[in-house]
Amino acid sequence: MSMEKRVGGILQMGYGTWNRPGDEAYSGVMWALEAGCRHIDTAQGYENEGDVGRAIANCGIPRDEIFITTKVAPENFGPGEVMRTSKESLEKLDVGPVDLLLLHWPAVKNEYPLESYISQFAEVYDAGMTKNIGVSNFTIPLIDEAIKLLGDRKIMVNQCEIHVYMQNRPIVDHCQSIGIPMTAYSPLARGAVVGDPLLAEIGETHNATGEQIALAFLMAEGHIVIPSSGKKDRIISNYEARNVELSDAEMVRLRGLEKGMRLVNGDWCPVWDV
Ligand SMILES: NC(=O)c1ccc[n+]([C@@H]2O[C@H](COP(=O)([O-])OP(=O)(O)OC[C@H]3O[C@@H](n4cnc5c(N)ncnc54)[C@H](OP(=O)(O)O)[C@@H]3O)[C@@H](O)[C@H]2O)c1
Repeated sequence: MSMEKRVGGILQMGYGTWNRPGDEAYSGVMWALEAGCRHIDTAQGYENEGDVGRAIANCGIPRDEIFITTKVAPENFGPGEVMRTSKESLEKLDVGPVDLLLLHWPAVKNEYPLESYISQFAEVYDAGMTKNIGVSNFTIPLIDEAIKLLGDRKIMVNQCEIHVYMQNRPIVDHCQSIGIPMTAYSPLARGAVVGDPLLAEIGETHNATGEQIALAFLMAEGHIVIPSSGKKDRIISNYEARNVELSDAEMVRLRGLEKGMRLVNGDWCPVWDV
């Protein structure tokens, strides 16, 4: 029997839609929903909010059973732009208020002061356009500052790169210590985990694939995971990783795969925690 766990109110297993334009996003979301997944992750920057919305409209599943996240792109942090573009996102998705709205990145090269876009973000939340708010790619100093600026408004999650090869301990430990769960993006290290001998070996004892072990590991660490695939069989198999339960000894071995392999990096990124 499958288990449907939530972390901090969010279904622990979601489906990511980055780099899946148009019909690919549409069919991917459909397959994820068919597999039983009820948590979908999109963003303004993925340019597929309309396709994700179309799949949700056509899937026959009641809206309130699906958890939908979208993200405000940092190029939309200028005066009035967070509200204007969040309205655009809601129009494209056409699902009513989203379940979770994230700031996709901190402002690139500090182009906008944190206060200026956090106050706009709070306005969007206060207007009821999203049920929850959160952040993505926020470092320790940024999340601490954001918490102060948001006052009573709770940060539901920090979505960051986390996988067996880059377990991102500094930000994970900090957020977990202050009660903010993490969503692990690129949880399969963008496919780099395929063929890993330790994952395969542990997989054999669980009658599971190495990729399922990579996802089960992150979930056992308390993270929400949002793997992406454009293939139906992989979408189903990734979703089934919920059913793998790893032992403490296996967890210790899997933690040993850490090698500081950060995949999403560039001049738009904040100074990462070390
Ligand atoms: N907040 C942010 O800044 C941020 C950044 C990056 C990603 N994200 C989110 O996180 C989601 C997932 O991250 P990601 O797409 O970067 O990487 P990922 O989920 O770690 O990996 C996706 C890659 O792995 C392959 N794959 C998936 N399942 C597989 C399986 N069972 N066996 C073998 N290969 C498999 C896929 O290929 P096929 O399609 O060929 O199966 C694809 O190339 C994104 O879609 C997005 O929603 C957020």
